[in-house]
Amino acid sequence: MKQTCVPLFLAPMAGAGDRAFREVCAPFGVDGFTSEMISAKAVTFGDRNSFALAEHGDGEAPFLIQLFGSEPETVARAARALIARVPCDGIDLNFGCPVPKITKNGEGSALMRDPEKCRAIVAAVKEAIPLPVTVKTRVGWDASSLNVVKVALACQAGGADRLTVHGRTKADLYRDGTVRPEEIRKVVKAVSIPVIANGDVRDGNSARELLTATGAAGLAIGRGALGRPWVFAEIRAALAGEAPPEVDKRSVMRRHVALAFQYKPVAAAGELRTHMAHYLRGFRGAAALRGAVSAASTPADYENIIAQLPSDF
Ligand SMILES: Cc1cc2nc3c(=O)[nH]c(=O)nc-3n(C[C@H](O)[C@H](O)[C@H](O)COP(=O)(O)O)c2cc1C
Repeated sequence: MKQTCVPLFLAPMAGAGDRAFREVCAPFGVDGFTSEMISAKAVTFGDRNSFALAEHGDGEAPFLIQLFGSEPETVARAARALIARVPCDGIDLNFGCPVPKITKNGEGSALMRDPEKCRAIVAAVKEAIPLPVTVKTRVGWDASSLNVVKVALACQAGGADRLTVHGRTKADLYRDGTVRPEEIRKVVKAVSIPVIANGDVRDGNSARELLTATGAAGLAIGRGALGRPWVFAEIRAALAGEAPPEVDKRSVMRRHVALAFQYKPVAAAGELRTHMAHYLRGFRGAAALRGAVSAASTPADYENIIAQLPSDF
């Protein structure tokens, strides 16, 4: 069935969704980008690495900087400090991270247990900056506390301009088959601000299914773009009932390698290993090439691997 394409966002991914990767995705039709999550506390301490995480390129537009933190005043101060140094299009608040070192401080998905705190954080940031404030959340802490509607209404009351809902609970982590589109749908019905659905969108079919099941205003795609930054163009084509676009995958990989070494000359070699492992899947000889990746450390090493890709890659 032909369907007009809704906005497709690249979901934030700490450790994977860095500037190089985001810029590689950009030409394939991404409607919005978000930084890796940044600690509000670290920003208020003036941590240089935290400011560096907010850096982005011209092609990444609109661009949101994502903050995590549990104290409204700290998050608001961090938001102000960041937008003063790094021009961007808004601040996204992370109320969904399930990592224990974050939740044990009452941050990330732990905030879902306290909708009033969510409201207070959104309201403090809204008051602090003249830009849109968006929220990314999950559907609850665990199966016995599916309270995303309450959290969403609290965020809306605080002034949130948009919500992205990852259809899993904190307890679900990233397990396959645990996305609950019906919970996202309840949010779509309950709030008047746009709701973006997220979770396990990897191709045209899964995109169509999540859109139909939720009625969301758009989709955010995370892991489905790893090793497949062209997935945005594929989904757009599929929803329009068109053939998938031709993609020169080798050129995409070469650009990714070049940008990674340009932006992070020291860390690139290590970080690219994960990305390359994602690219190198699903064809004969992939395992051997993934083996070569573990020893790669220079742009020439990566070029050598790309040159060995089979003709039907
Ligand atoms: C490696 C990795 C890092 C992530 N980092 C963040 C993050 O910094 N902020 C955030 O809101 N979500 C983060 N997420 C969650 C994703 O944005 C997304 O909600 C989740 O992966 C489900 O979407 P997907 O099935 O399309 O990947 C991360 C996910 C992964 C796999």
